[in-house]
Amino acid sequence: MSKSQDTDTKSVLVVGGAGYVGSHACKAFAEQDWRVTVYDNLSTGHRDAVRWGELITGDLADESALRRVVASNRPNVVAHFAALTSVGDSVRDPGAYYRNNVTGTLNLLQAIRTEGPCPLIFSSTAAVYGDPEQTPIVEDHPKRPINPYGHSKLMVEQILADNDAAYGLRYVALRYFNAAGADPDGEIGERHDPETHLIPLVLRAARDPNFSFSIFGNDFATPDGTCVRDFVHVSDLARAHVAAADYLLMGGASTAMNLGSGCGASVLEIIAGIEQALGRSMPKHFGPRRAGDPPALVAGADKAKELLGWNTMYSLPTIIASAAAWERKARGG
Ligand code: UFG
Repeated sequence: MSKSQDTDTKSVLVVGGAGYVGSHACKAFAEQDWRVTVYDNLSTGHRDAVRWGELITGDLADESALRRVVASNRPNVVAHFAALTSVGDSVRDPGAYYRNNVTGTLNLLQAIRTEGPCPLIFSSTAAVYGDPEQTPIVEDHPKRPINPYGHSKLMVEQILADNDAAYGLRYVALRYFNAAGADPDGEIGERHDPETHLIPLVLRAARDPNFSFSIFGNDFATPDGTCVRDFVHVSDLARAHVAAADYLLMGGASTAMNLGSGCGASVLEIIAGIEQALGRSMPKHFGPRRAGDPPALVAGADKAKELLGWNTMYSLPTIIASAAAWERKARGG
């Protein structure tokens, strides 16, 4: 139990709170009257995305800085988003992924254990399942990651389970499917550099004829031959973190759960949805498959419903509309 629970205001330390999902989670916590503090090295996050709490600039590699921030903030819960997240990069530079995602998390856990202690919410991923044997994927599906990114996240899940057994540090690992969309109020959104994600790339290709975009494979064993993914609105993901924090504060047991809509959409269906939203059609270029892309990833999301009372609020058209509005705003349109 955290030392700060003698006050009425609940406090969350958001590690990686300047990033895409982390910044939306900060907003969701603040809307529920949590005190938010962000710890981020701004390597991929954005200073101007930290709008709901103080920003402390620091790195996961710096264990003494982590200790100081946990000791001074006395959070009730830590939400840990800070990670390298590109599947392709993880194949090219696995050392960076294991160093940042695994060693960095060990540093954070050490700081929480010695200076907290308090429970942790961990950003995990559908990439822990690898190439699924069946969809929808439920949580006890075999975990056989097919890239270093997925391995790094699964290693952390194991470390968390071992830490709970040894030290009683409780956690919820949230396995995101495809995070997409932007804050419905337009305050924050997706900004990766370089951008590799489908929806922002298609939006850009729709307005810029010189921007090359290709569909990675049309020979998958799926209804239209392109990959199927479960797109879940980033604000829905954000709300799940607040629900997970409340679950942990109520004494909930450590667990891992999927966060997805339970519905799949193919790459071609996403492109069609964007064409419809923008009222224009665009040329489709088919290229080879991208290494490490499973044909279909669709979440079985009943566990999050049962344990957290969590449901998705935003549909795929809303995801696309919010992403398009954010993209327009980001380019000053
Ligand atoms: N795609 C294209 N062309 C592009 C970019 C993407 O066809 O230029 C396709 C991909 O092949 C994939 C789909 O669009 O089938 C979605 O790709 P994203 O890169 O947007 O997302 P991923 O499904 O690869 O990645 C997501 C998360 C990862 C997680 C992974 C699990 O972003 O963190 O799911 O496989 F690891």
